[in-house]
Amino acid sequence: MLKPTSPESSPSRDHWWRSAAIYQLYVRSFADGNGDGIGDLAGARAHLPYLAELGVDAIWFNPWYPSPMSDAGYDIADYRGIDPVFGTLADADALISEAHAHGIRIIIDVVPNHGSDEHPWFTAALAAGPGSAARDRFWFRPGRGPGGDQPPNNWQSMFGGPAWTRITEPDGSPGEWYLHLFAPQQPDFNWANGGVREEFADVLRFWLDRGVDGIRVDSAPLLIKDPDLPDVSPGQLPGPAHPYIDRDDVHDIYRSWRAVTDEYPERVLIGEIWLPDAARLARYVNPGELHTVFNFPYLSCPWGAGALRRVIDQTLALAAPAGAPAIWVLSNHDVDRVVSRYGRADTAFDLERRRYFHGFPVDLQLGNRRAAAAALLTLALPGSVYIYQGEELGLWEVQDIPDDLRQDPMWLRTQGADPGRDGCRVPLPWSGTEPPFGFSPPGAAEPWLPQPKEWRDLTVEAESASADSMLRLYRDALRIRASEPALRDGPMAWLPAADDVLTFDRGTRVRCIANLSAGPVGLPPHTAVLLASGSLSGGLLPPDTSVWLRLE
Ligand code: NOJ
Ligand code: CA
Repeated sequence: MLKPTSPESSPSRDHWWRSAAIYQLYVRSFADGNGDGIGDLAGARAHLPYLAELGVDAIWFNPWYPSPMSDAGYDIADYRGIDPVFGTLADADALISEAHAHGIRIIIDVVPNHGSDEHPWFTAALAAGPGSAARDRFWFRPGRGPGGDQPPNNWQSMFGGPAWTRITEPDGSPGEWYLHLFAPQQPDFNWANGGVREEFADVLRFWLDRGVDGIRVDSAPLLIKDPDLPDVSPGQLPGPAHPYIDRDDVHDIYRSWRAVTDEYPERVLIGEIWLPDAARLARYVNPGELHTVFNFPYLSCPWGAGALRRVIDQTLALAAPAGAPAIWVLSNHDVDRVVSRYGRADTAFDLERRRYFHGFPVDLQLGNRRAAAAALLTLALPGSVYIYQGEELGLWEVQDIPDDLRQDPMWLRTQGADPGRDGCRVPLPWSGTEPPFGFSPPGAAEPWLPQPKEWRDLTVEAESASADSMLRLYRDALRIRASEPALRDGPMAWLPAADDVLTFDRGTRVRCIANLSAGPVGLPPHTAVLLASGSLSGGLLPPDTSVWLRLE
């Protein structure tokens, strides 16, 4: 067994994950080491110095396991390996120890709700036939109606179409149906089955023994289904009101996972929970369960002072009783990039209404200014913060990807009605003036999604050379945040402010002001401007700009 090789840290209230800046590395779009046009672990290893310079404390890797890639790796065929497109287990081991040598921790994505239809358990279940132990690891049921040719209930998949697919039995006859809340290639596991529970505890140990520092739990509320599989009202999508979402027994699972991660020092369990109801979200951080949960209400919030303040207060109020730190997140691999969101007339976000938001024209300049202001606001809040790769470059949502190049099952399964998530997954621009902008080595295959030519101005190289780029802002902000104890997890205090202006203190020395109003505002007395997201004109803070002030 390999010894965990985490960076040292005190096992106190000051756990590293309470105030960490965590970089979300979407591996297929980060950097391509071997020239096939797809990002990989070699590319990630080569750019660890970039992440160290950026100043992040940890990296969260989206799934890197062997997968047929029907949902970009969220359909896992082997939970203990690395997909050959990304590299090998030896590459992962090297990456973990090289990251640790840079003082950067590694968080991996574990997907317990569903596997791949190419997972050996699923192929065994198909072969074993109805009523078998192998089928009990999934949700196989006979169909309804004459000949059983109707799905067992009317649940819909998150990606469009029914949540059930019918199989052919080994003897060639039309057979049972199996449940998949996402694509048909992602059969849901049955968490009432003891073997499923044991398997995942073992998978956690496998990676913790290799030295990973944390687990991001995909689709955390969905694991337990009502065994009666009742119909829902017609047209209802899987969501918070759905009968199989967020059931009490799911908390037993996370208690048992905590028992595993607690065997290792300073490991973190983070839940991905799309619940708009903050009170229900807070239940997952009960003592002995998940350490913290993603804050989707903050991510979905429109760019407005009142709405943001409400979400911030609610997040802190609900996390506090459990002693859990808040997570602040502006974007990820499932949502529209923040520059585009904030450049539209409606700045909110909602997964189920992505098609509606894509209908608005985008003012990129405005979106960029607001995204920079949002970055300073976010990085000043108490708790941990996630930065989705490319956010630090101000990349925008690519909305004009040709249809024949799109790969997201969300787009494919809705026949294009939902634009899907490819637009936020376009490979990063690193250097040079032409695609692939250093994403792949010279002479490589085309990147798996095309990059806009305008990204020549948004490469790491170009932004490093510019004094007022988004990258410079992120680097400066992360450096100040790391060196300023007041900006770590701890209290914040709102101050009275003009309409549509957010003003709060972190301790007695640092004040953050975000101006979301239409006009400039004056600054209070201060000893220094630590950082501003745009230039201050005549000592005033312009609209859609944030500033950090040193007070004493
Ligand atoms: C949540 C992940 O973030 C998303 O990318 C994925 O498609 C679904 N889970 C299904 O695995
Ligand atoms: Ca590659």
